[in-house]
Parts: sequence; structure tokens; C-alpha cells
Amino acid sequence: MAIKNANSKEKIFEILPNLGNKVKLRPLQLLDSELSVHWRNDPEIRDNLLSAPFPVTNELEREWIESILLDKSNTKIVYAIETIFQHNLIGFIYLVEIDWVSQVAWFGIMIGEKEYQGQGMAKEAMRLLFSYAFARLNLRKISLEVAAFNHKAINLYKFFGFEEEGRMKNQIYLNNEFHDVLIMSIFKKDFWS
Ligand SMILES: CC(C)(COP(=O)(O)OP(=O)(O)OC[C@H]1O[C@@H](n2cnc3c(N)ncnc32)[C@H](O)[C@@H]1OP(=O)(O)O)[C@@H](O)C(=O)NCCC(=O)NCCS
Repeated sequence: MAIKNANSKEKIFEILPNLGNKVKLRPLQLLDSELSVHWRNDPEIRDNLLSAPFPVTNELEREWIESILLDKSNTKIVYAIETIFQHNLIGFIYLVEIDWVSQVAWFGIMIGEKEYQGQGMAKEAMRLLFSYAFARLNLRKISLEVAAFNHKAINLYKFFGFEEEGRMKNQIYLNNEFHDVLIMSIFKKDFWS
């Protein structure tokens, strides 16, 4: 992983936990659904997220946000990714199925606004969330699932030090064929090294 000087990074995070140079992470708002419903129905984003190919209505998307806002399980953290200067909502980032005993969680991200892809937004949002997860929440390990064809995301995960832990063969059916899905993980010690 590229983050050096873990102590100073951790100190910066203590002061401005959700703020980067390009993006900030903020809690979801109900109105976010008006934009995010379009991302959910974009076949490219939906397929990369391994979501089922069913239409998502405004109502369903709003209900999903509502369920996050009302959730009291303490097992998920979902943030909106917003640009810091224009406050544009550009994506979501999350940890779910947080297991406080084993100190593990599952991760996901989408930069739904395509014009903002390829500008380091995901990289920065992940740096913020992982710093929070490892330094403040004391998680030990973060895992994710990614389609084997999603090279963009896999490159991004490898940059942070995620390693492949498993491959589910022919796991997902998309566009007339079955595709492998990788399970990748990173441990706290490797994030700061
Ligand atoms: C995958 C995704 C999150 C990347 O977001 P992004 O903001 O475009 O990524 P960044 O600009 O921060 O790029 C970070 C790294 O990703 C990799 N990457 C980005 N675009 C890439 C491309 N076109 N080809 C290969 N690697 C790429 C690179 O390693 C890049 O680092 P670099 O710029 O130093 O080379 C975004 O494309 C997305 O949301 N896609 C749809 C949903 C999705 O696939 N989510 C992940 C599901 S597991």
C-alpha cells in the first residue's frame, strides 16, 4: 500500500476524518436517491456491482436509503461521496456485515457519476474509509467481491494491497455467459505498511 508514515496519516485523520483533497464522505440523505436511482439502472455500473438485472424505481432507491438511515444494527456504514468544492454527489462507499468480534467487514464502492471516474475519487474515498475502519473502528480485515472482468476495480484494490483469497468459478451470469467472481481482502497491518 502506498500510505507511508502511518502515524502522521492517522493524526491527520483524527482531525478531519471524512475530508480529503477532492472528496468528502458524508452520511446519506433521502434526496440522494434522485441521482443514485440512475446509477442503479445503468447496466455498466449494475453489472460491475454484481447487482441483479432488475429495474430499480425511485421508491425502491429511496427505501434503501431510508433503511440505512434507520438502521440500528451497528453492522454497516454507508457514506455518500461528495466533491469538496461543488458538493456534487458522485458515489457511495460502504462497509457492511461488520463483525465486531472477529473485527472483519465487507466493502463496496461505486463512483456513479461517470464523468468523475478516472480522477482518483475512488482512491481518495477508500483511503479515508480504510483509515477510519482500521484506525478508529479497529477492524482487522476488510474483504470484497469483484467480478474477474472488472480490471479497473481489481487494479484499484491491488493498489491498496488487497490480495485474492478465492475465486468463485462461473458465479455470475451476465450477457449470455457466466463469469468468475474474486474474493479479495486486506489486513490492517498491510494497509499501514
Ligand atoms: C471501479 C471504480 C470504483 C473506480 O473509481 P475511479 O474513481 O474511476 O478510480 P480512480 O480514479 O480513483 O482510480 C484509481 C485506480 O483504479 C485503477 N483504474 C482506474 N481506471 C482504470 C482503467 N480505466 N483501467 C485500469 N485501471 C484503472 C488504477 O489502478 C487507478 O490508479 P492510478 O490512477 O494511479 O493508475 C469506478 O469505476 C466505479 O464505480 N465503477 C462502477 C462500479 C464498480 O465497478 N464498483 C466496484 C465493484 S467491486
